[in-house]
Amino acid sequence: MEPQQGQGKPHLPPPSLWPVGFAIGIVCILVGLIVSWAAVAVGAGITVLFGFLWVRDVTGDYRHRDVGIEPAVGGPESATEGAPPVPADRGEAAMPPPEPGERFPRSVFLEGATLGLGSVIAGIVTVPIVGFSIAPIFQHQHHDEIDLGPIDNFKEGEFVTTTFLRDPSAGEISRRTAYIRNNGFVGNQPSFTVLSNRCAHLGCPVQPNGPLFEQRKLEEKTKAGEVTLIPTLPAGGFGCPCHGGQYDQEGNRTAGPPVRALDRYEFYIRSGRLTLGKTYSVSKVVGTGASAKIKKYRLAGPGQHVDGIEQWFYPLQPPS
Ligand code: FES
Repeated sequence: MEPQQGQGKPHLPPPSLWPVGFAIGIVCILVGLIVSWAAVAVGAGITVLFGFLWVRDVTGDYRHRDVGIEPAVGGPESATEGAPPVPADRGEAAMPPPEPGERFPRSVFLEGATLGLGSVIAGIVTVPIVGFSIAPIFQHQHHDEIDLGPIDNFKEGEFVTTTFLRDPSAGEISRRTAYIRNNGFVGNQPSFTVLSNRCAHLGCPVQPNGPLFEQRKLEEKTKAGEVTLIPTLPAGGFGCPCHGGQYDQEGNRTAGPPVRALDRYEFYIRSGRLTLGKTYSVSKVVGTGASAKIKKYRLAGPGQHVDGIEQWFYPLQPPS
């Protein structure tokens, strides 16, 4: 007798798109670790959903085996309809005996092995990235701050050209310059404007458009190394010697090729001393001094827009 279609052949699971969705979710998570936490959340949702559906497919055979499958109406088994039930220990075996040495179909084994191996690889790739991303949250928050000395060294209303070591362990190669103005107090909180000297066009060092008062130069020894402070009067704002980019005293671009305002430093007052934190990017500053309205953006590279439609035309920046 000819076997009916499907009889005598090993059962193969139908092709599935769940692994593709699972992989897309993993990619979303990895990209999100660079771009934003919202993308990580979306990626995690996709991964969990498709992972669940994939596991459900792969384990379907086991689950059906557990609950048993009702015979199809009109099939060969229908000949027993109406007959008295046969005790479980009599009659024909429900399944053919397994081949010697074979407990599971090979396709099920391969699917399980693929799933397990994929999970291990995903773990190896994901765990270090997630660890590096969230580790700073648990580190000492003041670790990267730069002590510039007492706030009394900064006369109210005056810009000071300040140089300091961004990373004292790296030495002079990490020396940076910021233009710092003491804006006085807002309520009982001191206010400072702290501009980076990195041009927002291609990164050349911008200079004050006005005199430096070298005779009033101060050198302050701090735990972050030597800090130099030279009062300056940038009456014409700041200018870049490379391609003529110009900025006003708030760091807003006024002329030339720069695409945004000068970057700024976060600052803190610790026991009466001015300390700097991370740098961030700024598109445009509205207002001046202590009343300026500033929208912070993640630090962007020179020449990169941080807002508007142009911001999407730049490659992803690695975490900094
Ligand atoms: S690098 Fe400053 S204007 Fe080009």
